[in-house]
Amino acid sequence: MTTAPTDRAEPIDPDKLRMFTFLVFSKLEGAVTAGMIHLGDRLGLYAELGAIGGFLTSDELAARLGLHPRWVQEWIHNQAAARIVDVRHDADADRYTLGPEAKVVLADENHPAFAMGMFHRLPQTMNSLHVLPESFRTGLGHDYDSHGPDGAVGIERSFEPWSRHHLLATVLPAIDGLPERLAEGARVADIGCGAGGAAIRMASAFPKSQVVGYDISRFALERAADRKSRDSVPNVEFRDPRRDPLPEDASLDLVTAFDCIHDMTHPQEVMGSIRRSLKDDGTWLLVDIKALDTFEETIRKNPMASLMYGISVMSCMSSAMSVSGGAGLGTLGLPESKARRMAAEAGFTRFRRLEIEHSLNAFYEIRP
Ligand SMILES: C[S@@+](CC[C@H](N)C(=O)[O-])C[C@H]1O[C@@H](n2cnc3c(N)ncnc32)[C@H](O)[C@@H]1O
Repeated sequence: MTTAPTDRAEPIDPDKLRMFTFLVFSKLEGAVTAGMIHLGDRLGLYAELGAIGGFLTSDELAARLGLHPRWVQEWIHNQAAARIVDVRHDADADRYTLGPEAKVVLADENHPAFAMGMFHRLPQTMNSLHVLPESFRTGLGHDYDSHGPDGAVGIERSFEPWSRHHLLATVLPAIDGLPERLAEGARVADIGCGAGGAAIRMASAFPKSQVVGYDISRFALERAADRKSRDSVPNVEFRDPRRDPLPEDASLDLVTAFDCIHDMTHPQEVMGSIRRSLKDDGTWLLVDIKALDTFEETIRKNPMASLMYGISVMSCMSSAMSVSGGAGLGTLGLPESKARRMAAEAGFTRFRRLEIEHSLNAFYEIRP
């Protein structure tokens, strides 16, 4: 029997109503300011503020970039109100600057803390809101190419800064003997390689090794191919595994997978394929989001949980559900315990979490 709705409304506490309304609008403030951050990056406003290194008025900033002063003024008012840009109220005018931490996060493409990648693809990510209602009805999501070419650029810009600083210096040396083996000449596959940054970096550092990057995103593969020819790296190639799959002949020394297994429609099958591709003494380096075992633990311990679940709906889980029967792990769907279980099911016998400091990712050395 269903319960009929009653006419008697529950009493509303006016203070709680105010606080709850504030909570809801603070989410909209975040979304709108994120849009303004996208513009700051795209129009070069942060780069200019960062390059100047001192205070300047919004008119001066607009003039330096050839932008309309009234638009820049309104933008910078948003940024100062959101405490992203620092403001000094001088007698003759307000002047703005980026603090040293803001400068590296917003304006220094080479710094490991640079964070504009996710904002780069914000319009494409938000655009998915038009098609997601249908996904909720049918269950079918959308792969990375649904975010267009700029989606691939955003992913590249998100992962590059950290990879540039830490892949060769910290991550590969964390596995015993790996840099030496790569230096002697090894066969390597980077699964879910995106725009190829990690694959190209490994191929350049270890010219005797052969590296193949695999991805199903046409836009990412196009960027990877451009980058290979721009950087003139002969010992790297890029392939779409649907046409040209991983060799399942125990011929590879190293397989890497950076932040992509949770995006895949068939992660268990891919793990099986990785296992069969590896030599008996080969290594799978799995990097995935530092997820926790339960939802309760996640919302208690992860201050970014709501952001990550939202990104999952718009990007990661959507990709992992983009074909019928997709596993749908999503952004927080591959905690260590699950990675261990799945790796064992794929035929791996050794699993070790590496001690590498990263705010979002966990690193695992997995062996046959
Ligand atoms: C978050 S991105 C990570 C990209 C890259 N590893 C990096 O660090 O820049 C996830 C990537 O996985 C790719 N992907 C999803 N399913 C895949 C599959 N079955 N095989 C290969 N790549 C896949 C997507 O196209 C996307 O480029």
